[in-house]
Amino acid sequence: MKSSSFAIPLLLLSACDLTLASRLGFYARPRSKQLSGAFARRASIVGNTSVSNVGDVEYLTDITLGGKKFSVQIDTGSSDLWVVGDAPNAKDTGKSAKVTYAVGEVQGAIKTAELGFAGYTVDNQAYISVPADSQNKDGSGLIGLGPNYGSQVSDAVGDSSGDAVLDRIFQQNTSTPNYITFLLGRNDDPTDPPTGDLTVGELMTGYENITSQPKLPVSVVSSSETVNQHWQVLLDANGIVGPAGNDVISEFNIESAVGSTGNKKQLTVVLDTGYSLPQVPASVAQAFYKDVPGAQLVTRSELSGQVWQLPCDKEVNITFKFGGVSYPVHPLDANIDLNLTDSSGNHVCFGAFQPFNPGNGATYDAIFGMAFLRNAYTYINFGDFVEGTKTTADPYVQMLPLTTDSAESHSDFLKVRGNSPWTPEDASIGDRIKSHLPLVIGLSVAAGVLLLAGIAGLCYRSRKSRRTTFFRPTYQPLHEPAPEAYNLNAVQNQGGRAGYHPAYSNPWDSRY
Ligand SMILES: *[C@@H]1O[C@H](CO)[C@@H](O)[C@H](O)[C@H]1NC(C)=O
Ligand SMILES: *[C@@H]1O[C@H](CO)[C@@H](O)[C@H](O)[C@H]1NC(C)=O
Ligand SMILES: *[C@@H]1O[C@H](CO)[C@@H](O)[C@H](O)[C@H]1NC(C)=O
Ligand SMILES: *[C@@H]1O[C@H](CO)[C@@H](O)[C@H](O)[C@H]1NC(C)=O
Ligand SMILES: *[C@@H]1O[C@H](CO)[C@@H](O)[C@H](O)[C@H]1NC(C)=O
Repeated sequence: MKSSSFAIPLLLLSACDLTLASRLGFYARPRSKQLSGAFARRASIVGNTSVSNVGDVEYLTDITLGGKKFSVQIDTGSSDLWVVGDAPNAKDTGKSAKVTYAVGEVQGAIKTAELGFAGYTVDNQAYISVPADSQNKDGSGLIGLGPNYGSQVSDAVGDSSGDAVLDRIFQQNTSTPNYITFLLGRNDDPTDPPTGDLTVGELMTGYENITSQPKLPVSVVSSSETVNQHWQVLLDANGIVGPAGNDVISEFNIESAVGSTGNKKQLTVVLDTGYSLPQVPASVAQAFYKDVPGAQLVTRSELSGQVWQLPCDKEVNITFKFGGVSYPVHPLDANIDLNLTDSSGNHVCFGAFQPFNPGNGATYDAIFGMAFLRNAYTYINFGDFVEGTKTTADPYVQMLPLTTDSAESHSDFLKVRGNSPWTPEDASIGDRIKSHLPLVIGLSVAAGVLLLAGIAGLCYRSRKSRRTTFFRPTYQPLHEPAPEAYNLNAVQNQGGRAGYHPAYSNPWDSRY
């Protein structure tokens, strides 16, 4: 690793360390490019709030409850607000609630207080008050931005006074357009800011174009499963483009595990700002990473199981497609640097798209967490997923691709990680014909040379779909349990970084 290229991440990481050490540092800059103004909370501006970035694995914004400031993680994958420590003038409802995340849980009394969020003020917002202790730091918390269906507070309270934050905002002024948008920055990106923004009911300046992107309907789970309703949409049937520019879904015969999906080639993807490493079917992760020189599928407890370990200087180009639009993933996201080492102490990186098994009865196939979401400005229209709404409108998502300048992202990667070129290869046509040889010979004996020419042409045209059958063993999905949380204690011991958030928000993240 060239020292010049390595110096950048080290600098960033040490700044990040300071951030975490002080905890005030939610507003410290990982890079010197932007000065403090951009970090200041835009409390006076209705509709938007800045989002700070902790090591690319947690995005925080400020809220107030009873006038006291809390720095809370933004989480589109859950639906409750909880904060650690007391808020002035809070009223106890006499009820309590527990929210269980993919890992860990939080519980506490349900209280109400005046909430300030993204420039809106909500009276008597219900939230879970988690007691401060050595692990739960006063002033931290999490704001769930998912559909109200999943809200435990709302369930426990039993009437509309327990509704989730966004529902309350949209209810109290029905003229407020019922959508949110967010943009997540990338920490070590040399050409774009590390921070982000979250807006409620308005678009970010300069990104108004998002409204002309295709509207992706939110896929609705069955009425018996509404608690599992997330902001989820369908990927295109040819919507996963691997490093060699190949159509991963066809090539590996990938099918949706979601029973209700009409076209099994369309994977259901949850958009989750609270989940660090996107979760994808094991065969998708394999297609992305297995041919990268030095790649190894390893088990890392702090990354909650299996993950592809990669040399940090190997660029991996992948793209997803929604509604016919391509969303290239920045190579700094596809091969992510979490400041971890292998068992010999060498600095290693990881394939951010982590293998997982959606399991039986799945309501989704993949979770597109932060490493994907950094590549798309995202708009979520709640439609009639607002409690008490009288209008009938389907919720939908629009996304504006952000990583469209491939020359820039390539050069970003070289600056930060160094240059170690490799050539991703889809099996060449020559290899295919060679591998087809026994079949081809058998057929030619039976059918004659003339027919052979036609078949060779056919094999060539349909090579993608036939490849799995003829050239590779069928890939066995890994039957591992659903991912547990990152072992944050382990990560903490390794340098005190913020937790990598695998779960639908991991409460332990706030314990710094
Ligand atoms: C990165 O890891 C090294 C050693 O494992 C540690 O000393 C350092 O503090 C870590 N940096 C961050 C930002 O976690
Ligand atoms: C309600 O929202 C509309 C549109 O955002 C705004 O113009 C109006 O001032 C709001 N009304 C109140 C009472 O906040
Ligand atoms: C936030 O809102 C204000 C006023 O509506 C606007 O001037 C500003 O540009 C917005 N910020 C972003 C990032 O869109
Ligand atoms: C975005 O807006 C610009 C002009 O404002 C236009 O030229 C461009 O085509 C738009 N892009 C999309 C995706 O709508
Ligand atoms: C990734 O894409 C960039 C931009 O198109 C290209 O320059 C680079 O060679 C690609 N790298 C690999 C390993 O495919």
